[in-house]
Amino acid sequence: MRYLGGKGLMTDNILGVVDENTQGVRSVLDMFSGSGIVARAFKEAGFSVAANDILYFSYAINRGTLCNNRTSRKLRELLAHLNHLPIENIDPNDVNNFIAHNYSPNENCQRMYFQPKNALKIDIIRQEIERLRGELNENEYYYLLASLLNAVPFVANITGTYAAYLKYWDVRTYKDLTLEEIPVCSSRKRCTAYNMNADELVRDVRCDLVYLDPPYNEREYLPNYHILETIARYDNPEIKGITGMRVQNDCKSDFCRKKLVRDAFNNLLQNLNCKYVIVSYNNEGLLPTEELVEVIQNNGKADTFRLFEYEYRRYKNKIPNNTIGLKEQLYFIKK
Ligand SMILES: C[S@@+](CC[C@H](N)C(=O)[O-])C[C@H]1O[C@@H](n2cnc3c(N)ncnc32)[C@H](O)[C@@H]1O
Repeated sequence: MRYLGGKGLMTDNILGVVDENTQGVRSVLDMFSGSGIVARAFKEAGFSVAANDILYFSYAINRGTLCNNRTSRKLRELLAHLNHLPIENIDPNDVNNFIAHNYSPNENCQRMYFQPKNALKIDIIRQEIERLRGELNENEYYYLLASLLNAVPFVANITGTYAAYLKYWDVRTYKDLTLEEIPVCSSRKRCTAYNMNADELVRDVRCDLVYLDPPYNEREYLPNYHILETIARYDNPEIKGITGMRVQNDCKSDFCRKKLVRDAFNNLLQNLNCKYVIVSYNNEGLLPTEELVEVIQNNGKADTFRLFEYEYRRYKNKIPNNTIGLKEQLYFIKK
C-alpha cells in the first residue's frame, strides 16, 4: 500500500545499516510501522519482529500479514467467498451500510470516494468478515481484514490519501473491488503486532533493535486515512464536513507538533529498552537535523552515532515533484 512517508524504497538501506553496524540482533521493534512494509522486510531478513502503530487499520494489516506464516486453503476459499457475495439487493441508503451511506453518491450523500457498487461491496464484505469471526482464529480474521484494506485503495477516487476525493470519477474507480491473496513470508521467529501510543508501548517492550519512523511534518495520519480506519474499526463513528472525517481523533501525535516534537523524541529515546536504535527522518522535518542529532546523542553512546543520508526517491504518481534537495536520513546509535 502506498503510504505517506512509507519506506518501501528504503528497506535495503535500513537492512544495510543493521548489517554493517550491529552484532547479535535477533529481535526488532518497528515502533511506527504504518503500512508495515519495513516490519515485513525485517521478518523476511530473519528477525523476530514486533510492529506497532497508533492507527488500528495499520495494526490490522500488521496482524494479518506479519503474524501469519502462510495462506491456508481455508483463507483462499474465504477470499473467494467474500469476492462473490451478491450486492444486488443491498440498500445503499441503509445507515448500517456505513461506507455506502456516507462515502458514495446516494440520496443522502454527495461524497465521491467510491462508486456505489464498490462502496456496497466494502460494506457487505466487512460485515461478513465480522460474522465469520467466531469461526476464525485472530490471525485469520486479520488476514481477511488486511486483504480488504489492501483492496480499497485500488478503487478509491483519491490521489493518494483520503483527506479529499476527486470531483470526477477516476478510471480506477470503475474496477470491481477484489480481495487478493496477500503473500506472507514464513518464519519460525515470533512476530507480534501492537496498536498503542509509542509513549506507552516503550515501557513494556524489550528488544535488540528499535526502528523509529515517526511522522516528520504536521500532517496527522488519521485525517489522511480516516476511511481505512473506519473500515477497519467499523464502529459507526460520528463524522463531519465535506470529506466525512471522524470527529474524534484519538490518534493525534506529538511528532506532528513543532512545539512538542523535540520532547517527544527525547522521552521516547530515553525510555527505549534496547541495544540499538535506528531513526528515519528527513532534512526538512519539523525537528531540524542539528537538534535531532543532539537528542539522539544524548540518549546513547555518542561515539557510536552515525548519520546516513540518501537522495529522496519517490514512487511515480500524479502529484507534482517538489522534492529537490530533500534527503532521507537514517540515524544510528548504540544505547
Ligand atoms: C512515517 S509513518 C510510518 C511509515 C512506515 N514506516 C511505512 O513504511 O509504511 C508514521 C506512522 O506513525 C504513526 N504514529 C504517529 N504517532 C504515533 C504514536 N505516538 N505512537 C504510535 N504510532 C504513531 C502514524 O499513524 C503513522 O502510521
